[in-house]
Amino acid sequence: DVDRYKHFLEQHYDLNPRGRNDAYCDTMMRRRGLTSPCKDTNTFIHGTENNIKDICTDKNGEPYKENFRRSKSPFQVTTCKLRGGSTRPPCRYRATAGSRNIAIACGPGLPVHFDESF
Ligand code: C5P
Repeated sequence: DVDRYKHFLEQHYDLNPRGRNDAYCDTMMRRRGLTSPCKDTNTFIHGTENNIKDICTDKNGEPYKENFRRSKSPFQVTTCKLRGGSTRPPCRYRATAGSRNIAIACGPGLPVHFDESF
């Protein structure tokens, strides 16, 4: 499941963001290959790989819903939400930055899917 973990990182991991505003989202969504078609919603996690991986263990995570785990500690996150109704590029996003707990799915010990933040 290392490939799924790499895919998770590609979509959701950004340790040192610049800006965390609408322009950040426009740039990052494109750079991470999420704009053909425009993905509706995507969250970037501004935490270390180790802190994110720890959600998959008791160290920073606990069971949540059916197949998910939620973080015990909050993360700085930026959620990018598509503006307007069309998923045809160019994609323009609205950024929401904050500190929130996150829910993910884990493969064997590794994050493989982002579910939500709250
Ligand atoms: O909730 P939904 O099933 O529509 O989410 C689809 C995808 O959108 C998720 O797999 C995740 O990659 C992304 N998403 C996100 N941040 C959210 C909600 C959804 O990154 N707050």
